[in-house]
Amino acid sequence: MELCKLRMAIAIILQMILHVGVISQCIPTTLEGPFMPVTRSFDPSLRRGSDDIPMDDPRLKRNVTSMFPEQIALAISSPTSMWVSWVTGDSQIGLNVTPLDPSTVASEVWYGKESGKYSMQKTGDSMVYSQLYPFEGLQNYTSGIIHHVKIDGKQATQLFSIATYVMLNLLHSDIHAVSIGLFMKIGLEPGTKYYYKCGDSAFPAMSEEQAFQSLPLPGPNTYPSRIAVIGDLGLTSNSTTTIDHLIENDPSMILMVGDLTYANQYLTTGGKGASCFSCSFPNAPIRETYQPRWDGWGRAEESEALKGSLWIVERAVREFVTVVRVRESESGVEFEFQCGCSSSGAQESGIMRRFMEPLISRVPMMVIEGNHEIEPQAAEITFKSYLTRFSVPSEESGSNTNFYYSFDAGGVHFIMLGAYVDYNNTGAQYAWLKKDLLNLDRSITPWLVAAWHPPWYNSYSSHYQEFECMRQEMEALLYHYGVDIVLSGHVHAYERMNRVYNYTLDPCGPLYITVGDGGNIEQVDVDHADDLGKCPSAGDNVPEFGGVCHLNFSSGPAKGYFCWDRQPEWSAYRESSFGHGILEVLNSTYALWTWHRNQDIYKQDSHGDQIYIVRQPQLCSITSKESDVTILTSQPKETRGGFKIPSFGAFICYLLITTLILLPRTKCMGTGRRGRRVSP
Ligand SMILES: [Fe+2]
Repeated sequence: MELCKLRMAIAIILQMILHVGVISQCIPTTLEGPFMPVTRSFDPSLRRGSDDIPMDDPRLKRNVTSMFPEQIALAISSPTSMWVSWVTGDSQIGLNVTPLDPSTVASEVWYGKESGKYSMQKTGDSMVYSQLYPFEGLQNYTSGIIHHVKIDGKQATQLFSIATYVMLNLLHSDIHAVSIGLFMKIGLEPGTKYYYKCGDSAFPAMSEEQAFQSLPLPGPNTYPSRIAVIGDLGLTSNSTTTIDHLIENDPSMILMVGDLTYANQYLTTGGKGASCFSCSFPNAPIRETYQPRWDGWGRAEESEALKGSLWIVERAVREFVTVVRVRESESGVEFEFQCGCSSSGAQESGIMRRFMEPLISRVPMMVIEGNHEIEPQAAEITFKSYLTRFSVPSEESGSNTNFYYSFDAGGVHFIMLGAYVDYNNTGAQYAWLKKDLLNLDRSITPWLVAAWHPPWYNSYSSHYQEFECMRQEMEALLYHYGVDIVLSGHVHAYERMNRVYNYTLDPCGPLYITVGDGGNIEQVDVDHADDLGKCPSAGDNVPEFGGVCHLNFSSGPAKGYFCWDRQPEWSAYRESSFGHGILEVLNSTYALWTWHRNQDIYKQDSHGDQIYIVRQPQLCSITSKESDVTILTSQPKETRGGFKIPSFGAFICYLLITTLILLPRTKCMGTGRRGRRVSP
């Protein structure tokens, strides 16, 4: 009997080792691409979307009094400095609104490396903005006071020690040491936990203590641990699941690739948001917005009312789980739940957390504008909320506009591009981009990651070829300088491309990924342009900025047609589901990309898509592509790539992944997935 138990235990252990080994070894790499296109269709047991959280929900209510800071957020300024932003005062909405005077309250940040001891202080700027609709029956809005303070290590009291430090280094005649030393001395120390409070100490009205971890300095061997990527988030219950899931993944920074609050799905009078503004508000004199949604989105602070069971029950219903036990803890509401559709019925536990402020007051979030940030108002003013509420390193990166900028985080150089401002190759953005790329030193920041809102490569019907004009203007420049990864949103689904340039498979093209699946009110996109009857007509998908440059393909399987008759060869994997991505840069060559689906939030080691992105600088150097930068074609080049026949090892690997990962998930969710054209 004992021998039998021993044998069983050994067998189980061996099986576990084999299982873990197979999974860890079977994550595909881009070196094995281009991959045969795979589509995983929308799981019909899931809802395509959910309503926005109403403004009277406790999660969106303010829980501090007037002049106390709320909506606290961080953004990277430089490798050694950080923006801290927050809001004080009362916003107003009505026919007559009077802007607050920003000078009535100070913008201070106290900070230091020890909790409760703030050895450094910085002050900054404050401002208000108004959203004015001089139309009959519409309401106006004016914001609370929005504060922005850049913190680094600079202190007047430290100048003497800095000067001394520089002198000592100069005596050693080590200029490099001086520059690095000075850099270190006057900035935030890398990888260091800082504690801070913000507000106005004179009232006194300082916030509770917050904390963040500074990022690593630029260098080929230092990277942020986990870079979260979210697009088209909104403020629905699906959005909260995305944020909860993302918090579970413990990000060290966040890229928010546009379409944040969807405040423009509302009339100025508020009410209930609609999933389609144009069809729900056909008589609106202007595309109205309900600006308090922005305050609710940035806030969503924890409150006593939240600690009831209502939200847990709501979420349980939404996620098809059964909550079996609830208890409060310091970090929120802990609960145990049972997956109602799981064959195993295993119980797990998790922590209920709130929306944006608890996350972005400790993890920097880098935003770029989407079409839902345009928000036109009187006098043709646009983007007022986006431009006023968020700090981005525009001056630091020489762009001098919040519409596009760049920054470093460890060995990654990020370029954030504006799709809703001039992107022509004769314009200011293009000139700035060219200069930024020219100044890059890939020995310091080997990885080059670009992000903008609307994807250039997209095989869904929604927004199909919408930003072709932008692609035709800028793609050659980005390709020439070897952009490794491009991240976009806008399409409310997930799609990962094969490496591609000018609609042609190219091992040196960027890896394009669409993650516009944050969970907004407009619901998940499920139609593909290659589905029968789903090819958009020429009048569809007109961009909200720029021209229309739709094209018929001039070569390959889709030659002569606007849409393909199958999933395009440049589309490697697509799935309609809410979720978010995590990028883990491992070294100057390898990065692991994982797409996390919302329905996997309660599962261990479960994900929707995963791949190692591998750089090949020797193969794809700038000089090897010298001739391409001048090519600004409007038509795809002749296809020269095509599919590789997968090696036997890759084939086996693929089968194992399918067997070990996909099938158990299907079983857990209790639904069959209508996988289309799954290959090989
Ligand atoms: Fe969008």
